[in-house]
Amino acid sequence: MEIRSSINFHDERFLMFVLDQMANELERNGGEAIRMTLGKSEMPLHPEIINSMQQALDSFEKYSLVYPGGLPELKDKLATHYQTKYDVSIKPENFVISVGTSTLFRNLFYLLLKEGDEVLLPLPYYSLYHFCALLVGAKVRYYKIDMDTLRLDVESFKENFTDKTKVVVINTPGNPLGNILTKEELYTIDSIVDGRAAIINDEIYANTYFDDECESVMQLKNTKSTFITTDAFSKAYRMYSRRVGYAIVPDELVQPLTVIQHHTLLTADPVVQFGAMAALDYQHEVDHLVQLYKGRRDYTIDAFQNVEDVRALPARGSFYFTLDCEAFMKRKGISTSLELATQIFEATHVATVPGSDFGIPNTLRLSYSAAKYNEGINRLREFFTTT
Ligand SMILES: Cc1ncc(COP(=O)(O)O)c(C=O)c1O
Repeated sequence: MEIRSSINFHDERFLMFVLDQMANELERNGGEAIRMTLGKSEMPLHPEIINSMQQALDSFEKYSLVYPGGLPELKDKLATHYQTKYDVSIKPENFVISVGTSTLFRNLFYLLLKEGDEVLLPLPYYSLYHFCALLVGAKVRYYKIDMDTLRLDVESFKENFTDKTKVVVINTPGNPLGNILTKEELYTIDSIVDGRAAIINDEIYANTYFDDECESVMQLKNTKSTFITTDAFSKAYRMYSRRVGYAIVPDELVQPLTVIQHHTLLTADPVVQFGAMAALDYQHEVDHLVQLYKGRRDYTIDAFQNVEDVRALPARGSFYFTLDCEAFMKRKGISTSLELATQIFEATHVATVPGSDFGIPNTLRLSYSAAKYNEGINRLREFFTTT
């Protein structure tokens, strides 16, 4: 059978899942892995979220609802949530709800980009953006997040924003670096773009910051560009596999995005959308997760302070921490981050994510969401100091 796509699906594997699969295999054979792979919280869902999903399952009127663009009740509740949190007035119909934001990215890229158009992504990037650009045949350019300061490299943004740029993606707090864009940086991006491209603002880690407040695009005044904000219940509310995410889109995108869902989704599961509505009532749950992950961030920085050849990049938010292993890989003759992560997994049973997934091939990404996180860090430290 001929596959018409020009994408090399072997090269484009999400290596996070390759390592996660190794952990599955080990566990199926009776071993125990420490997973620092997915950004899936180790903590169970809040009981009230489960309760509201169970109630929905007990009610035919609820579990049989079909809305391709999302339940009106959830849209209303999201509009109220943004009004309360940011004092912004967003019409409920401008929320398009789907099975997580991953599919929304694919559809937004389809709507906003055609072959040959340019998309400007952060480097490092979350792999979804890169893959969605491949799907539509757009040319990818990058602006840098400085690996020493974790700040926006404004010059590289200016250099790579061209007349052909139709979409810019920003992600704060960021995956994988845990970097945070300041309000000034957000204004700088807006003024460089100056209304000439759509800015997709991925705020999936919006509630997860450890030091300084993470400003939202929602707080900016008098911006010149069109912002499309995406967020989901997968992270801070821990609903990773109960799929609910949404995009806040301008009027002209509501119908196109919803019509794609008419034909290709039919409906997002109403049961989990009732769970999402309940989640919005439990903001303090997020604080607990943030404190826990802040402690893990601090533990990682301490643990790697005196490890030669490995640089721990001090994340300020999100679920992830990045280790720069360039010097170690050079010394050991390890040529890819997949090879490094595989060696580590075989030696320590700690599953990490190869940095190649994010365009930074000499690094590893660690997710705070492993149940035995600190033990995993101890094992990694030992690996790097004794190997
Ligand atoms: C930065 C970022 N954006 C988007 C997503 C997509 O998540 P979901 O499809 O659950 O909304 C993820 C998932 O890890 C992510 O890290």
